[in-house]
Amino acid sequence: MTHTHAFWLAGRQATGDTAVEVTSPWDGHVVGTVSVPSDAQVDEAVAAAHAVRDEFAATPAHIRAAVLDHVSRRLRERTEEIARLISAENGKPLKWARGEVGRAVSVFRFAAEEARRFNGGEAQRLDTDPAGQGRLAITRRFPKGAVLGIAPFNFPLNLCAHKIAPAIAAGVPIILKPAPATPLSALMIGELLAEAEAEGESQAGTKLPSGAWSILPVANDRMPALVQDDRLPVISFTGSEKVGFSIMDSVPRKHCTLELGGNGAAVVLADYASDEDLDWAASRIATFSNYQGGQSCISVQLVIADASVYDRLVPRIIAAVEAQVTGDPSDEATDVGPLVSEDAAERVEAWVDEAVEAGARLLTGGKRDGASYAPTVLADVPTDVTLYCEEVFGPVLTLRKVDGEAAAFTAVNESKYGLQAGVFTHDLRTAFRAHRALEVGGVIIGDVPSYRADQMPYGGVKQSGVGREGVKFAMEDYTYERVMVLTGLNL
Ligand code: SIN
Repeated sequence: MTHTHAFWLAGRQATGDTAVEVTSPWDGHVVGTVSVPSDAQVDEAVAAAHAVRDEFAATPAHIRAAVLDHVSRRLRERTEEIARLISAENGKPLKWARGEVGRAVSVFRFAAEEARRFNGGEAQRLDTDPAGQGRLAITRRFPKGAVLGIAPFNFPLNLCAHKIAPAIAAGVPIILKPAPATPLSALMIGELLAEAEAEGESQAGTKLPSGAWSILPVANDRMPALVQDDRLPVISFTGSEKVGFSIMDSVPRKHCTLELGGNGAAVVLADYASDEDLDWAASRIATFSNYQGGQSCISVQLVIADASVYDRLVPRIIAAVEAQVTGDPSDEATDVGPLVSEDAAERVEAWVDEAVEAGARLLTGGKRDGASYAPTVLADVPTDVTLYCEEVFGPVLTLRKVDGEAAAFTAVNESKYGLQAGVFTHDLRTAFRAHRALEVGGVIIGDVPSYRADQMPYGGVKQSGVGREGVKFAMEDYTYERVMVLTGLNL
């Protein structure tokens, strides 16, 4: 028997009339039972967030920073326990789950730092024209209103951290809706936030106004009502292209940030040709096409290699992919665990089968066992099959041979997606050409597209989304500039 986890309503624990079980994608065991808020409780949380917006915006920076610092410290102290929780509910191997907790530690630390320096105000003299004589503009940022944060299952802790930490740093109330498959890691953030506030109450008054944050594990079919709620004028969504754009289309007058899919292209150019170069590229490609079972928007899905290195690169990639250890995510040795569900693995299987029927060559993998799908590499994949055109979100890599840099960059840009791309080159001039030419939100030189540091701006163009995350960039996203003009000054 597992106990039922409460959710967080306006900063305090609450339970609803119903509950759902969270099960392990690996062996189906019940990881936890989560109480589900009623419609009235959801309304109460939204009303509290809306009501508290002015008070929260005026909360001193040191209070917001102290809460965020506390969460960062406690995540670090409880890394092992939280990593095991992530691994159990998501199926992510422990080694990757530990990495995710480490990143969330940094996200809350960055947020504490940004809370201290954000919004100091920028002064601009206006006496550059006669009409502005004696005038000074001071610009500060103010919240657009309460945020609805909708998080996915693939990084159940860190992508929730990317929604909630910038909100607290900027003094913006937030309603966080975790993915139905993985609510437990999100609720853990609530526990640490509440702990920070409880500790603060007994010390220097480190308490956020009640209503500043809620974490509500509601089912996806209740999302449209939240999305439509006028008291939540900002929506920050991470998930699929289809759901993201349907949200945006349903509320065209709201501010929506969408972090959606990608095709994760890794380009290997002709100058990246030594044995050492190709070993490094192959090992990074194999690792990051399979990390978290390929369930990352920036996992490597497509390798575009110059013809001059292709034949030496391919066997190295296959060997490195076959060396990935698959199996039980709680085993220290495991590199690749199950996908989030059997349905997800069946979808990947169907896409690979379709590609093979259309002429693709299967170089390794291609087998499913329940929710697990074997690390897979294909070549000669027709560019019109689903596997090539859509985001796979599974441990599947497609190899493509091209002639020269221009053809490689064109192949990256042919995709409807534009999230991140990796370019293996040593040439700084090529790096700058890639930065200019590639239609993506991030170009990673000398590594795979999967590299993300949590303080960087992160987000895509084209069908990969709108807006940027990364702590400071999310804070800007949640707020707007309001200028104040002072007159009659002796500048
Ligand atoms: C994502 O899947 O979009 C998040 C990737 C990451 O944070 O590393």
